[in-house]
Amino acid sequence: MAGTVKAAAVIVAAGKGERARQTGGLAKQYQRIGDHAVIWYALAAFVGHQDIDTVSVVINDAGEEDFTRAAEAFADRVRIVRGGASRQASVRAGLSSLRDAAPDFVLIHDGARPFVDEALIARVLGTLATHPGAGALPALPVSDTIKRERDGLVGETLDRAGLFAAQTPQGFPYRMIADAHDAAAGFDHFTDDAAIAEWAEIPVVLVEGSAANVKLTTAQDIAIADQKLKKADVMI
Ligand code: CTP
Ligand code: MG
Repeated sequence: MAGTVKAAAVIVAAGKGERARQTGGLAKQYQRIGDHAVIWYALAAFVGHQDIDTVSVVINDAGEEDFTRAAEAFADRVRIVRGGASRQASVRAGLSSLRDAAPDFVLIHDGARPFVDEALIARVLGTLATHPGAGALPALPVSDTIKRERDGLVGETLDRAGLFAAQTPQGFPYRMIADAHDAAAGFDHFTDDAAIAEWAEIPVVLVEGSAANVKLTTAQDIAIADQKLKKADVMI
């Protein structure tokens, strides 16, 4: 990807982290795991990536001080943008902030996924390069059997064949996804960007995701991530 093609990243971190919140505590993206805040790890992966020129981070007013503390090391290497009430609105704000940079491609990533790595970013960028006009979605086949609940009981067992769990970073040609987000702004219910692409009839190619690349959602997820990083430290 080196050379002529420009790629940017949007990292969304404007959520309240309600499901992971301990009373009075920090939003999950600012909680500490290992030696750093959750958001630090995704920033390190994207800011440090040779093929990513520009990184926009989307935060909310409540998180301004927490972000400054968590991401001091990257302060002068990222654009900071205000998010909205939904993830969709926050991504749109991040995309708008890249208009002057006009990258060819943009990777959109959840700040709550600290374990994104160089290889996964390279897979998504590589897929964008070989599939002009398409998006790239990292995903893994669903391995659990999936049930639909009905009145507190198992209502139905779904056929999991062909089902994938979607991850981020999701990559797209910048102009296409920015236009799709603008058009979708009146319908604020999309939970990821591949769903907006689908709605806008942009084809999306599946890319192999990474089992490590979990989204930290609950307080337990954060505790497990912390233990994992501390164990990795001991092994080095
Ligand atoms: N996000 C955002 N703006 C919002 C909502 C979510 O930027 N208004 C971001 C979160 O910061 C997170 C990602 O989108 O990095 C995925 O969202 P989720 O895991 O749902 O995080 P929260 O919305 O913060 O958590 P919760 O739903 O438990 O409140
Ligand atoms: Mg949420």
